[in-house]
Amino acid sequence: MTGIDVETIRKDFPILAREVHGKPLVYLDSANSAQKPQAVIDAEADFYARHYANVSRAVHTLGSEATNAFESARDTVAAFLNAPSRDEIVFTANITAALNLLAYAFSNATTFLGAERFRIGAGDEIVVTEMEHHSNIVPWQLLAQRTGATLRWIPLTEDGRLVESAIDDVITDRAKIVSVVHQSNALGTINPVERIVARAKAVGAYSIIDAAQSAPHLPLDVQALGADFVAFTGHKLYGPSGVGVLWGRYDLLKDLPPFLGGGEMIETVTMEGSTYAEPPHRFEAGTPMIAQAVALGTAVDYVTGIGKDAIRAHEHELTAAALEGLRSIPDLRIIGPAHNVERGATISFVVPGVHPHDVAQLLDEQGIAVRAGHHCARPVCVRYGVPATTRASFGIYNTLDEVDALVAGVRKVKEVFA
Ligand SMILES: Cc1ncc(COP(=O)(O)O)c(C=O)c1O
Repeated sequence: MTGIDVETIRKDFPILAREVHGKPLVYLDSANSAQKPQAVIDAEADFYARHYANVSRAVHTLGSEATNAFESARDTVAAFLNAPSRDEIVFTANITAALNLLAYAFSNATTFLGAERFRIGAGDEIVVTEMEHHSNIVPWQLLAQRTGATLRWIPLTEDGRLVESAIDDVITDRAKIVSVVHQSNALGTINPVERIVARAKAVGAYSIIDAAQSAPHLPLDVQALGADFVAFTGHKLYGPSGVGVLWGRYDLLKDLPPFLGGGEMIETVTMEGSTYAEPPHRFEAGTPMIAQAVALGTAVDYVTGIGKDAIRAHEHELTAAALEGLRSIPDLRIIGPAHNVERGATISFVVPGVHPHDVAQLLDEQGIAVRAGHHCARPVCVRYGVPATTRASFGIYNTLDEVDALVAGVRKVKEVFA
């Protein structure tokens, strides 16, 4: 394999030594949630065992140790994204919470002095794509319902890509928000986000990138991307569940109204009203996910230590082998780009005559963990006329032998159903 020492990496992930149904575990569900290296497990346990206290409140030693660890995770994430400032990093529960934070902050702008530029209403448009995860559709539908704005979307080609010629038609000067996925969780497609961001800028719309699937696999540089907001989720990046990140340009965050109100997000409170803390704290009401953020910092260090270019090369090779193997199975239909160009290591497929859940269950009996369903991107299934797909997704710890196991496993499923 190119680039990375997979056998050494595998030893870092204790769960990969497990057996399932008496077979070695072949974990091909990282797009759903990635496994955790021992370093991440240790970081969270060690924080609870030796340093735990609430952050930003206590003056005692543990309080300052906890605050330092939490804030140092913020530095780590800022460097990971090449963010110009640590104050642009907001910790959230996951990316779903980050996108909802934005959607609610936009509607709170309606009554918030100083936030006029975020106001959205009838006649304004919010643009997404037809391949979004539900967490990048539903918050915008709700925002549209609250404000009278209209939701529009960029449609898909037969091959699982955006209709590029539609980008300029859908993103017009009525667009106020353009929120698109970097890499599709359902199709594996890597989208031309730079081009979309440029178009959003040209028409004066705010641009938001859902980097849930790209953060673990692709180089991610918020300054190079040029978007206004970028969000990702910790558990897909080999980090803990319960923590996500919203990055936003500081000049926007400083005027953006809060979403959740509560402790630590205020400057001052009287019975008559409140004023709000500067970013990022304005957007982190209540006790945050302290240990999870600390362990996310460790996960980021782990991924950075391996290197995004090496990860990308490794996963590209796995994807090429998996596409070739799956394409060699008669009648199997790949839902998404069939060739290994501008696509990530996530492959959805349908075996005619076999329900995707049955495929996944029979694979599980062989020790192979894949996901079946609509992958929280139901419009994608509607677009391609399938009720669901089976999805195999690869990460840093997967091997070519595991790709072979998948292909052999799917062949076996076909035999059982023949
Ligand atoms: C592209 C994409 N966006 C958003 C999400 C939502 O992630 P979370 O459930 O961690 O908020 C996912 C999870 O599958 C995803 O793949």
